[in-house]
Amino acid sequence: MDNAEVRLVSGKDIVSLEQEGLAALRGRSRQVVVDVGTGDARMAYRLAQAHPDWLVIGLDPNWRGMIETAVRSRRKPARGGVPNLLLVAASIETPPEELAGIADEVRVLMPWGALLRGLVLGEPDVCGGLRQVARPAATVEVTVGTSIWSPPVPAGVRDLPELTADYVRDTLAPRWARAGLRITGTDLVRAEAAAGLATSWARRLGSGRTELLRQVTAVAASRTNPGPAVT
Ligand SMILES: C[S@@+](CC[C@H](N)C(=O)[O-])C[C@H]1O[C@@H](n2cnc3c(N)ncnc32)[C@H](O)[C@@H]1O
Repeated sequence: MDNAEVRLVSGKDIVSLEQEGLAALRGRSRQVVVDVGTGDARMAYRLAQAHPDWLVIGLDPNWRGMIETAVRSRRKPARGGVPNLLLVAASIETPPEELAGIADEVRVLMPWGALLRGLVLGEPDVCGGLRQVARPAATVEVTVGTSIWSPPVPAGVRDLPELTADYVRDTLAPRWARAGLRITGTDLVRAEAAAGLATSWARRLGSGRTELLRQVTAVAASRTNPGPAVT
């Protein structure tokens, strides 16, 4: 974990959030959701708006992409402000230590770059980072659009194995388990059937309503005993 304070995108500025501020927000929340690779954070914003008693934390190293939503979220509630949304500038490989064990639920939607690679290959830094922000028994849900493996396959995906059910069960489950994430299931779902998945990137990737999404769900194991993977 990174020792730096939480770098928060607040309006157009990067500010640091102190431990007490975070603890106060957390104390008021019934549930904490961390959206990893939040992109423009619109999905996180909608989630926070729909659940005022939750704390929603969007995390992405590309802080510029979050500015528009950050500005909107800091308005008065009547003008679209959502005080229960925090946007954190960080990579999942080095999450701020203040976020350790904070999440009841971790979501990753349409990952790309190092995030996609780390999840698909089960790399310890990315999977370990997800585990770090999750509390024990938290749910982790990763959703990947399967069209990225259809020709023309983008350069960053060409050497990545496709997330088939067999690959998830035989190869990925043991790797995620070593990072403390016990895979509990995997499904193919149609984008139209997946509530709340109309994210900006789902649209930008041209994933129409018929896009098939691969969802992998997991549970964060206790730190001392990840336990065997359930397939
Ligand atoms: C295709 S976008 C998806 C954004 C959003 N989830 C959506 O569905 O609209 C993928 C995001 O993953 C972020 N990302 C890539 N590597 C990351 C990492 N190591 N840690 C956290 N986020 C990462 C990128 O900055 C980008 O914003």
